[in-house]
Amino acid sequence: MMNHFMVLAVLLPLRTCYTTYSQQESVVFPVMYLNVSKDLALQRLLVEWDVDKSAHDAELAMSFEIQVRRTDETTTVWTEFHNITLDKSGKPLHWAWDSDLPLECMSHSVRIRSKAEASKIWSQWSLWETVLGLDTSSNSGPQIFPNEKIIEEGSDLTLCCIGRKGQIIKEFFIVPGGRVFDHTSSQVRLLTLKNVTHEVPHITAYCRESCNEKQCSDQSVFIVGKPPDTPNDFSCQTQDMRRVTCTWSQGGDTYLYGSHSPKYTISEEFSQKIVPCTVSCSEQCLCSWDIGQQRIYNITVTVENPLGKKTATDVFDVTHRSKVFSMSLLRVFHCRPCPSPDLNA
Ligand SMILES: *[C@@H]1O[C@H](CO)[C@@H](O)[C@H](O)[C@H]1NC(C)=O
Ligand SMILES: *[C@@H]1O[C@H](CO)[C@@H](O)[C@H](O)[C@H]1NC(C)=O
Ligand SMILES: *[C@@H]1O[C@H](CO)[C@@H](O)[C@H](O)[C@H]1NC(C)=O
Ligand SMILES: *[C@@H]1O[C@H](CO)[C@@H](O)[C@H](O)[C@H]1NC(C)=O
Repeated sequence: MMNHFMVLAVLLPLRTCYTTYSQQESVVFPVMYLNVSKDLALQRLLVEWDVDKSAHDAELAMSFEIQVRRTDETTTVWTEFHNITLDKSGKPLHWAWDSDLPLECMSHSVRIRSKAEASKIWSQWSLWETVLGLDTSSNSGPQIFPNEKIIEEGSDLTLCCIGRKGQIIKEFFIVPGGRVFDHTSSQVRLLTLKNVTHEVPHITAYCRESCNEKQCSDQSVFIVGKPPDTPNDFSCQTQDMRRVTCTWSQGGDTYLYGSHSPKYTISEEFSQKIVPCTVSCSEQCLCSWDIGQQRIYNITVTVENPLGKKTATDVFDVTHRSKVFSMSLLRVFHCRPCPSPDLNA
């Protein structure tokens, strides 16, 4: 009995000491769950993971090292630290990665390791979590990605052609000509265009496997353009307090036509309504409509095309923007101080 107590007396302080030391320096919270998915519209990898609940409860400041790797590439294409202080909500952690190569082209894998900021020791890496590319699925013919895209002037574009399983891509090129890059796997080939220009309004990519039938080839068209400029000199007035007319100048050419040409929407902030007017542009753009009882308007014009969206706003009081009305005010109210006019009469 006596002996037992003495042993405990010696061990207890030691144990406390050990715990404090280990919490600071050597406790690891490895990634317990890792989920990787893809958003193909945004060409973005979505990564979700979590560590043990006790790390959340302790509101630990942690570092996560995240790596992205592609099929067949021995080196990682991306490494990033994500430093965050956990909270008690216990919600899983998130990170997103925008890919310059279409995610369809090949498989992408992600792994994570973690470290409490106060600690010196990194956890083991998690296993690689993979989202598959279309090179692993069975297609009815070769496929080019991206497919039929509108691209911004000055940007770079990486394309791939994925052949059917067991097929070899014999040709992959663009018209007008560009550089062709071979990829290690001959079922998938990549091609990169640098600094595209609107002077070549259409770029067509062609891909062919080493056979000649119709199903052995694919093609895809790319249109080069610009996002719209911000509407310039946007202003609205009324001549008669019945119709408001807004005018603005549209800025530079977007080189996009037909269904891709800039579209205008006019909206009013206070009534939260889209203004029912038809925009017509020649030298200037112009839009007019009948006003109601409202006196102060906050009008926004939004111009949008597939490459971007810009807005301009004008806030005005119809009684201050009406030329006819201000003149009649001068004539009628020749008094000082003036009674304020009854504007709704
Ligand atoms: C992984 O994330 C995706 C997208 O957020 C979700 O649909 C899926 O259910 C998740 N999988 C697991 C195992 O949690
Ligand atoms: C995040 O943490 C890592 C490792 O602890 C460190 O190397 C890196 O500089 C930190 N990054 C930022 C932005 O604080
Ligand atoms: C891209 O091309 C334009 C001409 O088309 C040139 O003025 C510009 O310097 C180029 N930019 C880069 C980064 O090469
Ligand atoms: C007018 O509306 C825009 C957004 O529609 C808003 O940002 C701006 O603050 C508004 N201005 C006034 C004076 O209410």
